[in-house]
Amino acid sequence: MKEKTFVAIKPDAVKRKLIGKIIERFENKGLDIIAMKMVRLNRELAEKYYEEHKGKDFFEDLINFITSGRIVLMVIEGENAISVVRKMIGMTDPTEADPGTIRGDFGTKLPENIIHASDSKKSAEREIKLFFGDDVWESEH
Ligand code: CMP
Repeated sequence: MKEKTFVAIKPDAVKRKLIGKIIERFENKGLDIIAMKMVRLNRELAEKYYEEHKGKDFFEDLINFITSGRIVLMVIEGENAISVVRKMIGMTDPTEADPGTIRGDFGTKLPENIIHASDSKKSAEREIKLFFGDDVWESEH
């Protein structure tokens, strides 16, 4: 089934000039990037983005990290894109992510884990609508 998912290349990866290498992996896999932009999040939007983690002990560190520099936001479309992209990025903790995955190959330590991708259709819808609006979520390509 054709799906859309949301991906964010985080400030650590942007600073280390890994944007091209990361995008290349998604293109090599045959996935389509159907929307993309580079932004620096303010605190308010960052807290909305990560609202499910509010109250956790790492929340403050996470918000400081995600607002520390520019990030690249993308909507990626393809067959089973949500689970395919999650497999490609690997486990949340880059010290545990398998080699061959994006976090496994490039990540150092939490919260700096290079990339985020939606973990379900519900979060893909929420994240795509938050950053790109309803039209991109509802669009057909
Ligand atoms: P992400 O997939 O974007 O979802 C939530 C983010 O919180 C995660 O990637 C990490 O950047 C960060 N995170 C998750 N767990 C921890 C943790 N235990 N300590 C620090 N940061 C974390």
